[in-house]
Amino acid sequence: MTEPLDTTAIRKAELHCHIEGAASPSLVKAQARKYDADVSGFISGDTYVWSDFTEFLTAYDGAASLFRTEEDYALLARTYLEEIAAENAIYAEIFVSPDHAVAAGLSNAAYFGGLAEGIAQAKASSGIECRMIIVGIRHLGAEKVEAAARLAAARPHPLITGFGMAGEERFGQVADFARAFDIARDAGLGITIHAGELAGPESVRAALDHVRPSRLGHGVRAIEDTALVQRIADEGVVLEVCPGSNLALNVFPDISSHPFDRLRRAGVKVTLSSDDPPHFASSVGREYQMAADAWGYDAPELTEITRTAIEAAFVDAQTRANLLGQLD
Ligand code: ADE
Ligand code: ZN
Repeated sequence: MTEPLDTTAIRKAELHCHIEGAASPSLVKAQARKYDADVSGFISGDTYVWSDFTEFLTAYDGAASLFRTEEDYALLARTYLEEIAAENAIYAEIFVSPDHAVAAGLSNAAYFGGLAEGIAQAKASSGIECRMIIVGIRHLGAEKVEAAARLAAARPHPLITGFGMAGEERFGQVADFARAFDIARDAGLGITIHAGELAGPESVRAALDHVRPSRLGHGVRAIEDTALVQRIADEGVVLEVCPGSNLALNVFPDISSHPFDRLRRAGVKVTLSSDDPPHFASSVGREYQMAADAWGYDAPELTEITRTAIEAAFVDAQTRANLLGQLD
């Protein structure tokens, strides 16, 4: 029997991480002390406490409410990026949610400025490159998502290069949000949308029909429909797959039933991400390790997954070439 591969040295890229969801319980508890707030409803010891997706969103919102200044967000972004740089991540895209920032009392300028400061600090200390994707929150409704799209289209910061939609996937119809995505696409932003995570293949089909994204957040429940898997492969749509998140949220019962490898073998472009790392006991490093352990990938195969991510990244040609050069 061959030794399991240690994936630490593999260069990695993460396309799907919600920055508010990247706050560790210990950081959130420090923020709670700073603002004299109570987190006992969603943190116990050093773990987030929730039992289903709805409770997860409540814990997520509770943590987000404790990042209230530019400095708070700089600290959060720097901490997250330096952690994954230590796992040899060379690139990350973070989902940023102006709706969460406004709810915590920040201006958009303070939110993006703070995140950009943390990104710059992490780049200076580790070399990691990062871009921001503004997301609208689906369960807040189409008007809010359109407002987020208009904000993204105004290009409020040069590191904002994409637009997406997160939140409760079972809320409303994808078609209700098509205008938001038209606004973002017309502004030249990269497009991604959560689909096929908690909702089934029909949600993926609707996302492809109405939104025409180059990437799908999750998309894994497409596996229930062979023709749809073929369509995703044919259209070259890239999946931001987050196996640890899918297991924690019971989308699949265990890693051996997870469709990552089946999608890959069917010709779908798949990448690996952590989604909301401390909520799911995950990190991009752990996702790569789990994939290597579960499906026996070797170093070239894992590096190919990173290459797929960088080819699909929402970056300019020069940055993409620099990042791809780091894989040789
Ligand atoms: N917001 C944060 N994490 C999310 C997820 N996994 N799905 C949808 N919305 C989210
Ligand atoms: Zn997500």
